[in-house]
Amino acid sequence: MEPLGLRAVGSHCSLSEMDDLDLTRALDKPRLKIERKRSFDERSMSELSAGYGRHDGVHDSPRGRSVLDTPLSSARNCFEPHPMMAEAWEALRRSMVFFRGHPVGTLAAVDNTTDEVLNYDQVFVRDFVPSALAFLMNGESDIVKHFLLKTLQLQDSEKRVDRFKLGKGVMPASFKVRHDPVREMDHLVADFGETAIGRVAPVDSGFWWIILLRAYTKSTGDLTLSETPECQKGIKLILSLCLAEGFDTFPTLLCADGCSMIDRRMGVYGYPIEIQALFYMALRCALSMLKPDGDGRESFHMRNYFWLDYQQLNDIYRYKTEEYSHTAVNRFNVMPDSIPDWVFDFMPLRGGYFVGNVGPAHMDFRWFALGNCVSILSSLATPDQSMAIMDLLEHRWAELVGEMPLKICYPCLEGHEWRIITGCDPKNTRWSYHNGGSWPVLLWQLTAACIKTGRPQIARRAVDLIESRLHRDCWPEYYDGKLGRSVGKQARKYQTWSIAGYLVAKMLLEDPSHIGMISLEEDKLMKPVIKRSASWPQL
Ligand code: GLC
Repeated sequence: MEPLGLRAVGSHCSLSEMDDLDLTRALDKPRLKIERKRSFDERSMSELSAGYGRHDGVHDSPRGRSVLDTPLSSARNCFEPHPMMAEAWEALRRSMVFFRGHPVGTLAAVDNTTDEVLNYDQVFVRDFVPSALAFLMNGESDIVKHFLLKTLQLQDSEKRVDRFKLGKGVMPASFKVRHDPVREMDHLVADFGETAIGRVAPVDSGFWWIILLRAYTKSTGDLTLSETPECQKGIKLILSLCLAEGFDTFPTLLCADGCSMIDRRMGVYGYPIEIQALFYMALRCALSMLKPDGDGRESFHMRNYFWLDYQQLNDIYRYKTEEYSHTAVNRFNVMPDSIPDWVFDFMPLRGGYFVGNVGPAHMDFRWFALGNCVSILSSLATPDQSMAIMDLLEHRWAELVGEMPLKICYPCLEGHEWRIITGCDPKNTRWSYHNGGSWPVLLWQLTAACIKTGRPQIARRAVDLIESRLHRDCWPEYYDGKLGRSVGKQARKYQTWSIAGYLVAKMLLEDPSHIGMISLEEDKLMKPVIKRSASWPQL
């Protein structure tokens, strides 16, 4: 904590003075031309999907620019690109942001139909991930490299909210390029949560940054970026925020409401599945990139206590409460009466999922799409659990996918619950926005999870739904309604991650070997007991 009275302003972080030498140097480094060998996970993925039912349109393509080369691509082999793809590429390119001549990211939305820009004219770290994957899959890695380096520089700047100094490792939620016409100079202005609604720092940004760094490294074979001392330090700073010892009795990460994609109050404070899954994935990505000894967190807690299927539901229903000592079955003293009625109807006999949150006397039974998909991609879910999540999606298609993929969470909060939990948020009314709204961006995560589990036909169904509407509706940010039928009340049009998410899904289906960029195989060598490290390097 900083002494009081130093500076009563928000952390208006400007990189105008920061010289660009580091960036240029890093970019000038001779790029290792590594013959891209398909990794074990890629091989097993494509073999899996190869052995799985229909396989139309899927072929082995050499790495590099794909058939989707834009905007006027010619079909190669048997893959016939949907006309929406060319439109999507054009729209994605229109959203590109440049800093001193280099592309550094994509705007959250390029919606010319409204004057109410809010902060959608910024580059959000989490929003850029699908854009980055699309570019990488298309053999365009420069924008991703510039983005990774620029955000790293932003991480290094001083961050303040009022008089409070934020942790060194915090990555920005978003940034903006400002042009100074007098000095003819671009500079970056970042937001670490201090101007965001709710003033919450984005816990997910750092995790996405690490995940993207690995995707970049996997996709290009360029080890020189992740091995730079700057990147190594950046990774460690992010991890040291999460691995520091505190009062925790769980290996999960305690979070405030609104610290991730759901950036408003939605009752997800505590140990939300979205953050836990990203945390786990980022840890594993970091372990693969950090040169010295890293630390790890095993998956026992999540796999056991967050998992819910019919059997587990029945066990919880019959739980005793107030159990004391190590022999307690009901570890967190969850009251069976707190199980909402809808879960009993919702849970199929075959299938299961990771619930939204687990804490003392608290189980949030809601389904959250992102957390479950990332659990599959990171192998936080065992192969059986991954299959069960896919089974659930098939069984509960109407509820979880409806007419527009994909519900961000299920079910929505209504009435009294909505009032108490969201604080009467008019943007998060029932079946809208974060409260059970349908987000096309989640299509890429669903598709990746489908490919990893060898069930691409599920993703194809979802892609068909998207193709019937998204373009016609001008690529909205989200849809409303129980079935996701209406364009969201306050949804932006030309929302970049809706566009990029579609492209990534299509390219994954076209060439499933891309999955290696964003998927990790199960770690068979995982140590049985890992605790928070007392020796985590001090930076
Ligand atoms: C909204 C979303 C957030 C997203 C941002 C930019 O605030 O809740 O997840 O990053 O818009 O698209």
